[in-house]
Amino acid sequence: MVTHTLKLFFMTECTQHIANFINCMIAAINTSIDTIDDNRFQSSTLISKLKTIGRQNNNIQAVAFPILDLLPQAIDTAISSSPCIKALAHSLTPILPKLQWYRREGEYSKRFVQGHANAFIIGKKGLYTLDDVIVGITLLVPRIQYPDHNHPPEEVYITLSDGSWRQKAGEWRSPSIGGLVYNPKNITHSMCAKNEPLLAVWCLW
Ligand SMILES: [Fe+2]
Repeated sequence: MVTHTLKLFFMTECTQHIANFINCMIAAINTSIDTIDDNRFQSSTLISKLKTIGRQNNNIQAVAFPILDLLPQAIDTAISSSPCIKALAHSLTPILPKLQWYRREGEYSKRFVQGHANAFIIGKKGLYTLDDVIVGITLLVPRIQYPDHNHPPEEVYITLSDGSWRQKAGEWRSPSIGGLVYNPKNITHSMCAKNEPLLAVWCLW
């Protein structure tokens, strides 16, 4: 009890915001676990990685793009959905302005380049570092598709708005707000905004 109290006492404001965000993210994953029907997804593995002790990054410079003007609309959409997504959206509010937003590198259309933004929340270019998991966020303007991509880590998206999601050349599917999208290692996948901005938190591990 004493140790726990001391730990809280020495937490910086940033670390408290991140701890709250992680707790809200875990609650969102647990609440929507049934939206994933792929038994390769082991939520306990991801959650145990999210619960480890990490370190605050003090060398992150905030970077913003014009597209971020859509963030309040996307956050309002999330806040008006289920209680746990509402809490997750509120937990993001103090974090979002501090992020080092970036655009995907590569040869893409001007429409895509200007119509998306990514940021690491937990990771080497995020506000906090954990050893075995990276957490980020993506914003897309309406009617923009994020390019097909793949990566060695597994991934879960927590959807904070209405959007479409696809694996390989499969059909697009639309989980309701708060639904989870799981991508096994190296699978090609994409997402697409509908008529409103798409906002999603993702975990890679
Ligand atoms: Fe991905």
